[in-house]
Amino acid sequence: MAELRFETVSKSFGRIRAVRELEFTLADGEFLVLLGPTGAGKTTTLRLAAGLETPDTGRLFIGGEEVTHRPPAARDVAFVFQTFSLYPHLNVRDNLAFPLRAPARRMAEGEIRKRVEVVAELLGISGKLANRATQLSGGEMQRVAIGRALVRQPRLFLMDEPLSSLDAKLRETLRIELKRIQRDLGATILYVTHDQIEATTMADRIGVLEAGELLQLGPPREIYDRPRDVRVARRLGSPAINLLPADRMAELVPRAGVAKIGIRPEDIRLGRGAFDARVRQIEPLGADTVVLLDFRDARLHALCSGRNGLRTGQEVAFDLARERLLFFDARGRLVDSTDTG
Ligand SMILES: Nc1ncnc2c1ncn2[C@@H]1O[C@H](COP(=O)(O)OP(=O)(O)O)[C@@H](O)[C@H]1O
Ligand SMILES: [Mg+2]
Repeated sequence: MAELRFETVSKSFGRIRAVRELEFTLADGEFLVLLGPTGAGKTTTLRLAAGLETPDTGRLFIGGEEVTHRPPAARDVAFVFQTFSLYPHLNVRDNLAFPLRAPARRMAEGEIRKRVEVVAELLGISGKLANRATQLSGGEMQRVAIGRALVRQPRLFLMDEPLSSLDAKLRETLRIELKRIQRDLGATILYVTHDQIEATTMADRIGVLEAGELLQLGPPREIYDRPRDVRVARRLGSPAINLLPADRMAELVPRAGVAKIGIRPEDIRLGRGAFDARVRQIEPLGADTVVLLDFRDARLHALCSGRNGLRTGQEVAFDLARERLLFFDARGRLVDSTDTG
């Protein structure tokens, strides 16, 4: 495995700046997830890493060697695409073996068989090796697609929303498996997704990507607790963070220059406290309930226990986890609340 480094890499398509001065290092053995909405530049970033696109400016390194102008075949990376395509006329065994039978590899059939079987075991598809690709469920097909990348034992893996076409239950299962496999193999993975759950559950570090720009890079906890600006704050958390105009809770604002107060829904404690609101809507989720509150001409989402006894229309007092509040200036940047300047 090997580290991957982007050094001020930019790429435009005509007037669209798909990736802007992207700079980060994916460490050897790390699982890095780039999280961003459609059009953020996720696929372009992976294609640049794979050598399927050439940067307009900037440089790329794999394992410390510059690869900016090297063709894909010379980079030793494996790409798992968003829409997986298996060879329908081949069985699972031959689909998995396919990348190993490339003439340039000249791998002995015995070695191919061994690698295919190890990977099939890892992915829980050993019983399906004789099946045709067309005789598989969606989840099995995607396991085979991931397996085709694994058998190659490349220096790094590039994965483009590989779970996005699967149903919720299967996504959850494969997410856990993929993380386990990554740990067991010590694999280096650059994974991109628009799904915040995938990002927070699998990533060692998350990079928040928006309009081609890397807004923040750090461990999931840090991205959640200390988002550097409102765009990052909104990217993680469900329901999303409340962004209240500062004048609605002027008593809590620590310093001049604060335009918005960021309040995570779980940091609103309903029942008693210094603030009064009215329950506008109740959305039971099972273990938790989302309560929409009318508060000083604004709306707040609160996350509370499923057994709360609240009714629509009632008055309710609340308090806040004050040490967890976030303050943002008019440009949306995090304001240091301990600095009273
Ligand atoms: N080959 C291309 N030609 C023109 N525009 C492109 C091409 N590839 C990507 N783009 C544009 O670049 C931006 C980023 O695209 P992409 O990297 O596919 O984003 P994501 O994968 O995050 O959805 C989008 O605005 C997209 O339309
Ligand atoms: Mg994409």
